[in-house]
Amino acid sequence: MKFFIDTANLEQIKEANDMGVLDGVTTNPSLMAKEGIKGEANCRKHYVDICNIVDGDVSAEVIATDYRGMIREGEELAALHPNIVVKVPCIADGIKAIKYFKGKGIRTNCTLVFSPGQALLAAKAGATYVSPFVGRLDDISSDGIELVEKIVDMYTYYDFKTQVLAASIRSTQHIIQCIEAGADVATCPLSAIKGLLKHPLTDSGLATFLADHERVNA
Ligand code: E4P
Repeated sequence: MKFFIDTANLEQIKEANDMGVLDGVTTNPSLMAKEGIKGEANCRKHYVDICNIVDGDVSAEVIATDYRGMIREGEELAALHPNIVVKVPCIADGIKAIKYFKGKGIRTNCTLVFSPGQALLAAKAGATYVSPFVGRLDDISSDGIELVEKIVDMYTYYDFKTQVLAASIRSTQHIIQCIEAGADVATCPLSAIKGLLKHPLTDSGLATFLADHERVNA
């Protein structure tokens, strides 16, 4: 399973990249706003900055919600760097835009997906990635991981090439569940990725090894 980091924070992206396990980055307009990045030129510079840190796919979301606007914006974003993946919302014009981008060889991430039917349309249009939002479904007492499982099963059954990118991951446990569900990618906060390292037996085992070494080498 590939790991993307779900942030526009350059320090966190650098830290995750330095761990040597980062395969890409996802951003969205809320994450960009959280970093105080405003204006088209600044946003685009920031995407290029991210691409210069990580050698992997970087999702940059269109703001337009109409077909022509999404095409214009998506083509400009894709021209910024070869690793840019154009993130498009799962609405009617978005599906149409994904089909257009597929024909132009521009890779896409269909975002804000909350049902297998939406995922079916994204795959049929030729999306590179589909992003089911796990945490936001859990937030409304639904089952986000179950949706990931359903999409993985559907894509496997029909041999769709669209990769399942589990998004809105909130915890380390979500990552483990994504592995079990067969997601191709999980995009996660840095804290959830670091959580994978935590095990008390690793900590106590390392303390014993170091104490034994110290005892005979002191
Ligand atoms: C990623 O592509 C999504 O935009 C992101 O994971 C949403 O996460 P949130 O539900 O925690 O805002």
